[in-house]
Amino acid sequence: MTTPSDTVDPSGRRGFFVRIIQTVHAAIGGTVAFVLGGAILAPSFAKREPSWLSAGRLDLLREDEPLAVTLRVSRQDGYAQVVDRKVVYLVRSGQDVRALESTCTHLGCRTSYDREGKRIVCPCHGGVFGLDGRVLSGPPPAPLTALETRIDGDQILVQV
Ligand code: FES
Repeated sequence: MTTPSDTVDPSGRRGFFVRIIQTVHAAIGGTVAFVLGGAILAPSFAKREPSWLSAGRLDLLREDEPLAVTLRVSRQDGYAQVVDRKVVYLVRSGQDVRALESTCTHLGCRTSYDREGKRIVCPCHGGVFGLDGRVLSGPPPAPLTALETRIDGDQILVQV
């Protein structure tokens, strides 16, 4: 059984036009794939600029007494604007403020401040961190992640 394309003489005028049409189709398909692929993938590779968020007032912090604050971090996820909540400890030492992420570096549990022991503890596997974020004991492989901070007037700004 033969199909219409089998009967086209590739060296004839009809074969020439078939090749032109196939070439135009390939060019259109390639262009559409390039544009759609770029529109879908480009936001994923876009570099996110770090931003400074206000985390609270300096005068509300007590010396070496971590205060857990929740930061609302908005980010672009494809074409959607997503708001993540990030809990950080603010630890004041004089006029300096350290910001530590509260997520345990072992398996990602939320840590909490143990006021009596003056340390940060993880309920999941017993990880213990100092107020500077260092691992004191337990399985965490790394200190709590420190974030950049700066003071602007009486406001503490944290870079996320
Ligand atoms: S998740 Fe914190 S010690 Fe395992």
